[in-house]
Amino acid sequence: MKKVEIITTAYEYDSLIELSSEEQLLINESKNAVKKAYAPYSKFKVGAAVLLENGVIITGTNQENAAYPSGLCAERVALFYANSQYPEVAVKAIAVTAFTNNKFIENPLPPCGACRQVIVETETRFKTPIKIYLVSKEKITVIEDAKTLLPINFDEHYLEP
Ligand code: THU
Repeated sequence: MKKVEIITTAYEYDSLIELSSEEQLLINESKNAVKKAYAPYSKFKVGAAVLLENGVIITGTNQENAAYPSGLCAERVALFYANSQYPEVAVKAIAVTAFTNNKFIENPLPPCGACRQVIVETETRFKTPIKIYLVSKEKITVIEDAKTLLPINFDEHYLEP
């Protein structure tokens, strides 16, 4: 038996002004998107904004369903829409935040495992790192790429014979 330690890195910012104007724009797009969430069951409105290599920003929100498992997270809504509309264009970054109890969350939102897996797939597909911004009312956590967010991940290579 050997112990394998996996160390991952994130950068925490206390305010938006520490980031570039391009980053601030993407973060603000994710914050604006929460208004469009469909979250009548959890009341936890999530907004995601995806920046493409061509400069286009796509937003997505969580879409819930009375049959609970049929719903989808904001990140996957945004990424699947981006990848279906722009199948040739790499994704460069994603920002995600949530609004509940009439305010933005106090601590940056960690994406669920399934969303992490989809971000990894998009990163692998376009061979371009996807920078991840986890956004709260004031604090922002920045992760350099999807594989840093999901260090042990399944990808296409495991499907090779
Ligand atoms: N949700 C997201 O949209 N993204 C996440 O990263 C975590 C959770 C949604 C799913 C569900 O609609 C609600 O938040 C509560 O879990």
